[in-house]
Amino acid sequence: MPPHVTRGRRRGYSRLAARDWRWGRAVPHDDWFLGQPRPPNPRGLGIRAVSHAAVPRRGGAMAAVRWMLRWVAVAAAAVAAALALDNGLARTPPMGWLHWERFLCGTDCAADPRRCVSEQLFVEMADRMAAEGWRDAGYEFICIDDCWMAPTRDKQGRLQADPRRFPGGIRKLADYVHSKGLKLGIYSDVGNRTCAGFPGSYNYYELDAQTFASWGVDLLKFDGCNSDSLELLAEGYRRMSLALNRTGRSIVYSCEWPFYLRPVQQPNYTEIKQYCNHWRNFYDVYDSWSSIKSILDWTALHQDTIVKIAGPGGWNDPDMLVIGNFGLSWDQSVTQMAMWAIMAAPLFMSNDLRHISPEAKCLLQNKDVIAINQDPLGKQGYQLVKDKNFQLWERPLSGRAYAVAVLNHQEIGGPQNFTFSLTLLGNGLACNPACSIRQVLPASRDWGVYSWLSSLSVEVNPTGTVLLKVLPL
Ligand code: GLA
Repeated sequence: MPPHVTRGRRRGYSRLAARDWRWGRAVPHDDWFLGQPRPPNPRGLGIRAVSHAAVPRRGGAMAAVRWMLRWVAVAAAAVAAALALDNGLARTPPMGWLHWERFLCGTDCAADPRRCVSEQLFVEMADRMAAEGWRDAGYEFICIDDCWMAPTRDKQGRLQADPRRFPGGIRKLADYVHSKGLKLGIYSDVGNRTCAGFPGSYNYYELDAQTFASWGVDLLKFDGCNSDSLELLAEGYRRMSLALNRTGRSIVYSCEWPFYLRPVQQPNYTEIKQYCNHWRNFYDVYDSWSSIKSILDWTALHQDTIVKIAGPGGWNDPDMLVIGNFGLSWDQSVTQMAMWAIMAAPLFMSNDLRHISPEAKCLLQNKDVIAINQDPLGKQGYQLVKDKNFQLWERPLSGRAYAVAVLNHQEIGGPQNFTFSLTLLGNGLACNPACSIRQVLPASRDWGVYSWLSSLSVEVNPTGTVLLKVLPL
């Protein structure tokens, strides 16, 4: 069982504790569900209108037809409401920068002015994003994660930024970010409090959505800590989605709904995709190879469920890119970049753009990898082969092309060769009758033309990946 979930004692409910393990301290929500009165049902969801359609008491065939027509109209309105949740955003996986993995919950600006979660941090990152090629490479969102808020709401019940750390407020920051040709993301939580204990959006979905829109926010990361039940968790994710839509502003909606659901219940991805633009399924990424590896292993294990659901408007989110930090070797960084492209993952870097090596920058800004990640066909890739040493993944691309990744997951020894038949790719069609192959990572290289029955031998460093693009001829 994942460390943040403990079984409830009654009624078979599980308690979604606030991931105390990451904070290294107990957060007091032990009795958040048990023994609490059930909060009132949320109101105002169009979808619920169906159940209110009155059944005719009398009046014969015509009345029955009228009732049927009314029912159909109400049902159609409900369906339209669901379809309306397709907000036209995230047609390719969103790209940007998100503070969490690198800067966590630093709130002491006196002690650590360069690293605390503050207006200054986001202004400096926005400057770098605009000036150093990040925006032009496609990284357009600059996103605030947890810990931006003041500990309480204002007198009108609105969320407010911590006044010491964000002296100009979020509206001013959004204006600044927009002036740089970038977009601003913000964070809140479906429950009573965020994972770090700041005010959550529970019971305030409409107001918070309006507040974010009035500030000019372009993306909301909506976390799932501290919700009193799975029903409220789901209801909250739906209600915030509808509330964001009602603001009339284009706001990308990033969810963690399936991640909080999964330990207890199989997520309904068809529904989640109707409400969210991308969604986390698995634990937070850490700055380590074991974290990257566990995300890849989890994804391969669940690919039959999650791959088919991804597409324009809705993406599985394996969490942030940690390239440019401390924990990954060069080969492991290549693997993260290549595999996030294969998985059609949102690309949110969490690193310090003020201090980043030229190699990491070059990798993160690699146009060919980004083009694979952003391929307009919008199909997520999947694992084709896993043996003792290697994994072979492919991703169908537009123009009948394929991205192919060969990952050497051995953590001992030196470079190894993996040999495979091209008939394995694209159900035998990727290279039929012939194809040209170009290596994208670790370095760009032309491999020439191959016929359908050829085999390919690829040398890969331990924990590294070779990423290829296979083009039909
Ligand atoms: C959760 C999320 C993280 C981050 C933190 C903030 O753990 O999964 O991505 O947002 O909360 O507290």
